Amino acid sequence: MTTITPLIAGNWKMNGLKQSLSEISELAQLLTTGEAPRALVCICPPATLLHAVAEQGASSGILAGGQDCHTANAGAHTGDISVSMLADAGAQYVIVGHSERRADHGESDDMVRAKAEAAIGAGLKPIVCVGESEAQRDAGQAVSVVAAQLAASLPDAAGQHSVVVAYEPIWAIGTGRTPNSADIAEIHDAIRAQLVERFGETGATIQILYGGSLKPQNAREILAIENVNGGLVGGASLLAKDFYTIISAV
Ligand code: 13P
Repeated sequence: MTTITPLIAGNWKMNGLKQSLSEISELAQLLTTGEAPRALVCICPPATLLHAVAEQGASSGILAGGQDCHTANAGAHTGDISVSMLADAGAQYVIVGHSERRADHGESDDMVRAKAEAAIGAGLKPIVCVGESEAQRDAGQAVSVVAAQLAASLPDAAGQHSVVVAYEPIWAIGTGRTPNSADIAEIHDAIRAQLVERFGETGATIQILYGGSLKPQNAREILAIENVNGGLVGGASLLAKDFYTIISAV
């Protein structure tokens, strides 16, 4: 059986000012004084804090990631951020295709795939997000919707480079609701099968994260599910103590 090092990634979304860097210090302290974490730890802060998080986290093994990127490396794209800028700021990961970007900015699977390709080209690991809406789940389409998104959002280059997949049911994000363990297992197993079918051996090594109301209270149960290789954490990543509890649940 392939062993996969789990990844616990925090997505701060549009939250965090300079003063929030104290949470990074506290997390660093917890990580270095407590039991050694069994997971890789990454924080994806807003771009304004990326460089500081990367610098401050380095000595305690906290990795940094962006929350989005442009497909181009530079140019006339006001307000956007490129993969080389993220890498230059110290990022090792970048989230692409989060449902909030798909909804707020109309990002299509094609665009998400292009962003993932750009990330790979810059030596970053893309965290490619997929997930169904509540209406799609109620209609019994969760597995097929996720499969279609994954097929179209993941570039062929994922067969030769490090990528991460994150399953985030849209209706579980920020709501305090989660699918039950059997439903999470069903999707993660289907994603694993699809990855192996498409990428062979490599597909068996890709981390598949669960995201959506992952909290200190439910982390142990969810992270123990087969083919759940870590988590993508929103709200509960903003406080070092909560995030550390989730990391410790691995
Ligand atoms: P919450 O953990 O706040 O539900 O957010 C999940 C998420 O969207 C992480 O990317």
